[in-house]
Amino acid sequence: MKVLLILSGLIAIRAGVIKEEKADCPGVTINGVYYESETLRKDLDRPYILAVDYSTNNLYFSYNIHADNDEFRSARLNINTKEFNNIDGVVNGFAQTVDQKTHDIYIGGSDGIYKYDYGNNQAEIFGAFGANIWTIYFKDVLYYSTFPNQFLYTLEDGESKRFPDLEDTKVDHFVIDHENDMFYTNTTGLYCQKKGTKDAVLYAKTTEFKSMRSLTTDLNGQVFACLEDGIYAVKKSSKSLEKVVSIEDGFGLAFDNDNNIVYSDATSLVRFKINRHKKC
Ligand SMILES: *[C@@H]1O[C@H](CO)[C@@H](O)[C@H](O)[C@H]1NC(C)=O
Repeated sequence: MKVLLILSGLIAIRAGVIKEEKADCPGVTINGVYYESETLRKDLDRPYILAVDYSTNNLYFSYNIHADNDEFRSARLNINTKEFNNIDGVVNGFAQTVDQKTHDIYIGGSDGIYKYDYGNNQAEIFGAFGANIWTIYFKDVLYYSTFPNQFLYTLEDGESKRFPDLEDTKVDHFVIDHENDMFYTNTTGLYCQKKGTKDAVLYAKTTEFKSMRSLTTDLNGQVFACLEDGIYAVKKSSKSLEKVVSIEDGFGLAFDNDNNIVYSDATSLVRFKINRHKKC
């Protein structure tokens, strides 16, 4: 009898402990690994087009400065220290990208592309003069599209040119992966196309997924997408999108220099920070 009582008491204590541990897991589990959910900054209006400079772990992004019209500002947030700076001198700073080799930051505004100097916190107009920049991406060369026509261009040695591989389509989001495959979206869907060719492979039709808000590459050059309802891996083996984790009202997506997910929703910047020791 005593033994039974002791035993059941132990079980109750164990159950209590397990319950407590569970309640202490507010983060997310991805592929069996626990990630803390860390709010990097809140009270922002639709933070968007995220890019991380891996050398400093600075996150670049833009946000709306007037709720009811499209006026934007670029900003910088140090993911390690949470230090936040607005970036002055860019008219309607909207799109950000990083050349990870030289650590140059490029910002697309409503009158062209700016180059930003992190050291002295100065942005200077750089190219695509007078163009309203929609998206921007750096890999070996600077790619950008303009609004409202959404054609894709390259900017090299100060010269803007239509990008021949994609001259037959408008481009909404655009990235290039570690195998030099381009991934882009247009109103029809998400496509993969080997650089230097015109052979597009359809991965997902627009009608089959919730609105696609961002495409990005991680530290290894793998492609991920942010949809309204979650973060998805773009799987080349199955030529499809595979949900990694659910989020609510997702907007922007990037990876930090430890390959942790950094994303934005309508008001906040959040990081899923890996915690290998916690069992949840
Ligand atoms: C989207 O891109 C694909 C592949 O390049 C193309 O076949 C399709 O016509 C494009 N859709 C639109 C609306 O431009």
